Amino acid sequence: LREHEEFTKVKNIATIELGRYEIETWYFSPFPPEYNDSLNLYFCEFCLNFMKRKEQLQRHMKKCDLKHPPGDEIYRSGTLSMFEVDGKKNKVYGQNLCYLAKLFLDHKTLYYDVDLFLFYVLCECDDRGCHMVGYFSKEKHSEESYNLACILTLPPYQRKGYGKFLIAFSYELSKKEGKVGTPERPLSDLGLLSYRGYWTRVLLDILKKHKGNISIKELSDMTAIKAEDILATLQALELIQYRKGQHVICADPKVLDRHLKAAGRGGLEVDVSKLIWTPYK
Ligand code: ACO
Ligand code: ZN
Repeated sequence: LREHEEFTKVKNIATIELGRYEIETWYFSPFPPEYNDSLNLYFCEFCLNFMKRKEQLQRHMKKCDLKHPPGDEIYRSGTLSMFEVDGKKNKVYGQNLCYLAKLFLDHKTLYYDVDLFLFYVLCECDDRGCHMVGYFSKEKHSEESYNLACILTLPPYQRKGYGKFLIAFSYELSKKEGKVGTPERPLSDLGLLSYRGYWTRVLLDILKKHKGNISIKELSDMTAIKAEDILATLQALELIQYRKGQHVICADPKVLDRHLKAAGRGGLEVDVSKLIWTPYK
């Protein structure tokens, strides 16, 4: 955390309250000027409106009738739910989410033009409502074949597998669209670690099943992972050789097993049968 903070210019908000958590922020976020003098902000965990004082939030909670993000619930498995929020239909929510997310995202510029994005908000649900654990945003139309713009797991929920769940979800959407996808660059250190972990696990599982007899193109078709990302991942695992001007996968079973052991278990899986979604037109 310290390391991240060093590169930050002027961190304005120091802590936020969101649901049952008080969270220390990581980076500057360009809240409107009237919030410049606040060290703490109080967020409604459902509509993401933010306030300077706790009493304001308490008053707000009495009249806010949301118990989950706006938009459509497109996935539900056990207590996990995913909501799709159209930035054009829910502009204020989209902007609030961006302000909140920027507190934990460094090199990302904030998009004011939330109209152009869809937000996929992951929640843990109980009898009090659906509590946001993280989200990713996605451009409605990407020329660069980006299938994810920004990804965030809120700090209290990090390192529990939600990040990899969100990444897996973004690729499931790409599969439904019949497209390959890649995350928007640059990736943060934590973003890169999470993507490397996801790519490694997915590709090793398939290579193991096919005993290595498969091409990068076929891997890309099966996973919706862009060929460049597959090549970079397999190169880092030293599973690629360059022969006669071509990249060839050399998947020695022993090497695969060694990598698979090191990769650890996936954890939270996306159950595709529970995804009810059609691509944005
Ligand atoms: N230290 C070391 N490795 C880590 C850490 C950490 N603090 N956090 C994640 N990882 C690695 C691990 O390999 C981990 O897998 P493992 O636990 O099986 O070893 C893997 O990343 C993913 O872990 P998850 O629990 O699935 O991911 P998490 O829910 O923590 O979310 C995320 C990852 C979204 C990157 C989170 O760290 C985050 O929100 N960071 C702040 C915002 C950010 O940097 N987002 C990415 C920007 S790039 C972009 O948006 C395109
Ligand atoms: Zn509210």
